[in-house]
Amino acid sequence: MDVITSVTEMQLWSREARKAGRVIACVPTMGFLHDGHLALMREGKRRGDVLVVTIFVNPTQFGIGEDFDQYPRDLEGDKKLTLQVGTDIIFAPPVAEMYPHGYQTFVTVDKVTQALCGLSRPTHFQGVTTVVAKLFNIIQPHVAVFGEKDYQQLVVIRRMVKDLNFNIEIIGYPIVREKDGLAMSSRNKYLNEEERKAALCLWDSLNRAERLYHKGERSAPRLIQEMDNRINAEKLAEVDYIRICNAETLVDSETIDGNAVIALAVRFGKTRLIDNRSLK
Ligand code: PAF
Repeated sequence: MDVITSVTEMQLWSREARKAGRVIACVPTMGFLHDGHLALMREGKRRGDVLVVTIFVNPTQFGIGEDFDQYPRDLEGDKKLTLQVGTDIIFAPPVAEMYPHGYQTFVTVDKVTQALCGLSRPTHFQGVTTVVAKLFNIIQPHVAVFGEKDYQQLVVIRRMVKDLNFNIEIIGYPIVREKDGLAMSSRNKYLNEEERKAALCLWDSLNRAERLYHKGERSAPRLIQEMDNRINAEKLAEVDYIRICNAETLVDSETIDGNAVIALAVRFGKTRLIDNRSLK
C-alpha cells in the first residue's frame, strides 16, 4: 500500500490504473478510521479492482467555531487499519495541496443542502461537495462508497454527481453501529461516559418511531413528538432537529408515504451526533 500526498502523483497513478483497465473504487474519509469506515472499504474492494482511500480533514466543510482543529487525526493508526482491508492507495494530501494560495472555486448544490443539517451548518455542504468534486477529478474513480449515516451528505453527493455528469457510481452503505446501537462516528470519541450512555436515546427513539410506523402510524408530527419526548427525557441531550422527510428531496412530510427518512441531530455537551432511519 502506498501513501500519496501530491495531487499530480495521484492523477498519474489513476491515469495508469485506468489505462491498465482497472476499476478504481474510492472511499473518501476524514480519517480517524473505525469499523464503519472499514465496512465502506470492504465494499469498495468488492466493487473495484483497486481501492483508493482518501484521508483529508477538509477545512472548508467546518464552520467558524466548529471542531476543525480538534477533529481527531491518526494517520499512522489509519494506515494499519486500511492495510487490513487491502487498500491499494491512501491519498492524504496536505491542506495547501488541495486549497493552494489563490484558491477560489466552490461547488454548491441548492435545495437539498438547505434542510436538516444545512440549517445549523449553512456552509458545511458546500465544503463537502467542493472537496468531493475535487477528489473525484483527481482520482477519477469508477465507483465511490459513502456511509448512509451521513444521509443528507449522500443525497447531496448523488445530486451533484447527477447534475454535473460525473461518470461515477455512488454506493450508499448501511449504517454500522456499536453493539448497543450507537451509530459509529469519529466524533463519538468526544463523548464522556455519561454522554455516551445518554446518546443511546437516539437509537431508542428511532426504534420507537419505526415500531409505531409499522403499527400503522403515518403522521410525521406524531412520530416526531414521540421521539422528541424520548430524547428530551435525557438531561444531557439537546435536540438540534428531528425531521421526517422525503428520502430524495428531503422536503418535510406531514403524512408518511413509503419513501421517507427520519433524520435527527442531537447535541450531547459539545458533541453533535446525527442518525437516521428510512421508513419504507
Ligand atoms: O463523510 C466524510 O467523512 C466527509 O464529509 C467527506 C465525504 C470525506 C468529505 O470530506
